[in-house]
Amino acid sequence: MSIQQNVPLKRFNTLGVESYAEYMAQVTSIEQFKEVAEFARLSGLKIKVLGGGSNVVMSEAVSGVVVQYKSAQIALLSDDNAQVLIRVDAGFNWHDLVMHSLKQGWYGLENLAFIPGLVGAAPVQNIGAYGVEVKDCIQHVHGVFIDSLEEFHFTAEECGFEYRESIFKQALEGNVLITAVDFKLSKLPTVNVSYAPLDQMAKEKGVPTPLELAHWVIDVRKSKLPQPDQLPNAGSFFKNPVITLEMFEGLVSRYPAMPHYKLDEGVKVPAGWLIDQLGFKGKSFGPVSVHKQQALVLVNHGGKGVDVLHAADEVKQAVLDHYGIQLEQEPRLFA
Ligand code: EPU
Repeated sequence: MSIQQNVPLKRFNTLGVESYAEYMAQVTSIEQFKEVAEFARLSGLKIKVLGGGSNVVMSEAVSGVVVQYKSAQIALLSDDNAQVLIRVDAGFNWHDLVMHSLKQGWYGLENLAFIPGLVGAAPVQNIGAYGVEVKDCIQHVHGVFIDSLEEFHFTAEECGFEYRESIFKQALEGNVLITAVDFKLSKLPTVNVSYAPLDQMAKEKGVPTPLELAHWVIDVRKSKLPQPDQLPNAGSFFKNPVITLEMFEGLVSRYPAMPHYKLDEGVKVPAGWLIDQLGFKGKSFGPVSVHKQQALVLVNHGGKGVDVLHAADEVKQAVLDHYGIQLEQEPRLFA
């Protein structure tokens, strides 16, 4: 393990933003992390944990010590007729985990195929797609508090999971290094096709196996979402807002075709649809533009972090002016 100075971060963020870390260290154990923490303490520097860099907007200069947890082992903790419990280190690539588990006959993650990033970041924003959220399969999240260097072992309930939310983005923001996640996966090959387009495909082609479902999801993602190595992006840039029933009724009378999902706490409307209706698909704000096929995604053509934030502000302002809805940004600032 070495601590390097002035490290370029462009290849560590999928938006491809030019950025430099004051210091950076890649660690493979809690012991190594503690050594880095001691260096940071003696130097009066902050520690900033980075995962796969697929959900961050980086500033040009990231102060302090950027830490990446690189360990990528899988351990089988228990195995019975119905399910397995596995512990996966935070540095394991997310999509590789989905495909590895399917190969073993362990099911539950197939709807989350082809999401960029690392296992350690999955619980932070409770990644979700095509009718499944990762919280549905998480048993425990393990890690270390950055301030006290004490280890934690949270149950899924203690993680406070909600739509694109967890305790790691709220009360514990900036104070945790996640080192491993325990997943409970089923050995029964049942599939979740509750997401309307998947249900439609199941009606046309027959109910898929979990592996087939993963390939459907991969194909849908490839057709709708830009690949970061071709068009740098951070996936959905905004959360889908939940609005009050009263506000929804006002909007739906203006836009009868507006897609929506009724929830206990209000009505969720797709931010991508709202932005699309404004005619913003393909619209550029300097070097950053709204993706041509999916209005929820911003793509970066060589801009800096500030350019990405500027484009996001323009989109937010237009949505606020037009619908009275305040969009919330998904990627976190990494400064
Ligand atoms: N829509 C449009 N125009 C657009 C985009 C969407 O009209 O440009 C409409 C669609 O036709 C559909 C509705 O909006 O009726 C919802 O679209 P979609 O099912 O594609 O999902 P989304 O709400 O845009 C969310 C996640 C995605 C995830 C998909 C599939 C959020 C913020 N995003 O997108 O997550 O893949 O559902 O489950 O919840 C990501 O986080 O990076 C991501 C891609």
